[in-house]
Amino acid sequence: MAPVSTADPIPVAVTGLHKRFGALEVLKGVSLRAGRGEVVAVIGGSGSGKSTLLRCINLLETPTSGEIAIDGEVLKLKSDGHGGLTPADGAQVRRVRTRLAMVFQSFNLWQHMTLIGNVVEAPIHVLKVPKDEARARAEALLRRVGLYDKRDSYPAFLSGGQQQRAAIARALAIQPDVMLFDEPTSALDPELVGEVLAVIRDLAAEGRTMILVTHEMKFAREVASRVVFLHGGLVEEEGPPDAVFGAPKSERLKRFIQSIH
Ligand SMILES: Nc1ncnc2c1ncn2[C@@H]1O[C@H](COP(=O)(O)OP(=O)(O)O)[C@@H](O)[C@H]1O
Ligand SMILES: [Mg+2]
Repeated sequence: MAPVSTADPIPVAVTGLHKRFGALEVLKGVSLRAGRGEVVAVIGGSGSGKSTLLRCINLLETPTSGEIAIDGEVLKLKSDGHGGLTPADGAQVRRVRTRLAMVFQSFNLWQHMTLIGNVVEAPIHVLKVPKDEARARAEALLRRVGLYDKRDSYPAFLSGGQQQRAAIARALAIQPDVMLFDEPTSALDPELVGEVLAVIRDLAAEGRTMILVTHEMKFAREVASRVVFLHGGLVEEEGPPDAVFGAPKSERLKRFIQSIH
């Protein structure tokens, strides 16, 4: 285990992150921190790099340059020989992945498994939690998101709101330090948004560290400790929700907020 600098290191610290896909530079030097218990809302127009930023933090993408530190542990990257970077330490990647859990717009549940099967999968196979214990924890998590009665159902038989709540239970099952949400309600019918936001609100209230990409501006204003507005591959403005939404300084942010309402 790499040494960490303090007893309670900052959960997520991204510094000077660049990400390029061929000729397209999506992130042009983004820095973002999420302190313990903070809910950081990331907003910005379509294509502004929000998902790419989350995917870099979760190691689903490797940055072109810059630094990512999770719980004070800086990710070791090396040259991939094509002008980019690649993880240098596979064991570190596996370790860091167990500290982060991502919830996707499209749920991404395993369709061939029941809800309980989805929730116990990573604890049993990745974290080597004993089966009985994993199952007991999974049942408690499904109860928490209101899906205990559906534990033996397959995802295809559930509404989008139920599937997303199950995906949140699955993410919680690895007992992550940080939850990453990528527009968790934008694939849902409007009447199902509230039930998913209620679960996220509950997680925020218990002091979980979260980075939440969302178009739900009212919700972001309510639950976020800090809001970050991405534009053109950079953080254009950030601050407390009341300042960002109530008194935006940047013209682009003003236009963005107007366009959403
Ligand atoms: N794997 C990829 N290969 C090529 N281009 C990509 C890839 N992923 C994202 N992009 C491009 O990067 C830009 C930002 O995408 P994304 O991070 O998904 O934005 P957002 O989530 O803010 O809508 C878009 O122009 C998108 O087409
Ligand atoms: Mg996106």
